[in-house]
Amino acid sequence: MRRQLYWGLAIIALAGVGAQRPLPPLLTGHVKTLEDAASLRITFTVRAGLFAPEEYTLAYAKPNLFRIDGPKGFVLSDGKNVYVYSDESNTYTVSEAASEAVAEQIGAEEVWAWSAFFDKGVLKSFRTAEAGGKRNIRGNEVTEVSVTLGGERKGTASLYIDTKLKVARGFIITAGDKDLQVIASEIILSAEPISASEFAFTAPEGAKEAEETEEAKSGVSFAAVQALMSRSCMPCHSRRTRSGGYQYTTYQGIVMAVVPGDPQRSPIINAVSGPNPRMPQTGAPLTAGQVSLLSDWIAAGANRD
Ligand code: HEC
Repeated sequence: MRRQLYWGLAIIALAGVGAQRPLPPLLTGHVKTLEDAASLRITFTVRAGLFAPEEYTLAYAKPNLFRIDGPKGFVLSDGKNVYVYSDESNTYTVSEAASEAVAEQIGAEEVWAWSAFFDKGVLKSFRTAEAGGKRNIRGNEVTEVSVTLGGERKGTASLYIDTKLKVARGFIITAGDKDLQVIASEIILSAEPISASEFAFTAPEGAKEAEETEEAKSGVSFAAVQALMSRSCMPCHSRRTRSGGYQYTTYQGIVMAVVPGDPQRSPIINAVSGPNPRMPQTGAPLTAGQVSLLSDWIAAGANRD
């Protein structure tokens, strides 16, 4: 009975998406322009809330070649591996350039609007979009397009589409509890590829590959738990949807559903294990490895780090 009600709601929700008004041409133009370009270079600043703006650059080329330099280091993909280098610790991590690792970097809030260069699927995440007024950003005429986002990144955002370039000159998006304001000073779109050598990884002087910590090896870091839950438990347990009263987007929300030190008595473990796991309510059940990641973390005390 309850199940039927949920299905009913799901169908209404889907019908709602199907009936949405077409996206403004400015927005589809932004996606198409990025999709058509062979390479992209941007110099931009990122301002989080009231903090001072920080300088970034990015270089993108197809397929899956990217380098994003920021104040704390850089991320780079040579098409085979993704390298994440941190200035502070002078260490880097290497992971396979599988779609998930790539999506995580190019979908990061700081570079979000330009991810259409690699993935036009971003269009699907626009629930509604509305073009607003024109304004001027650093001498460039732009039109504001306000969007509401579906999928994992619920909320609202604004893109400032450059009249001449037809791509976003900047955007505003919510990241955690802050608004990020991203503004490009220079955008170079080109039909020419960028030489692969620019995306070759050379470790900065003295840099070492980060050792996996004991914690990461046994899979009990909170970051791993959070990543798993944001993949498997959304959109039903976001801050807004809170199915069953639970939200799993924050540490506070997740610990509400666990008994630290006691996986067996933790609602989360209860819900995802057993022969007929109740959760996730739709989609594939968690693998045994994923369930033990959660219970290892809880057994170790459900710590934040
Ligand atoms: C497709 C939507 C959906 C997904 C995905 C989902 N849930 Fe739920 N969840 C619900 C709904 C709806 C309820 C409340 C109604 C109920 O209890 O059946 C709920 C309730 C719960 C409850 C409390 C009730 C109970 O059965 O124990 C827990 C704990 C829970 N979910 C954990 C999870 C975890 C952990 C994940 C991810 C691994 C997850 N859920 C993924 C929809 C979902």
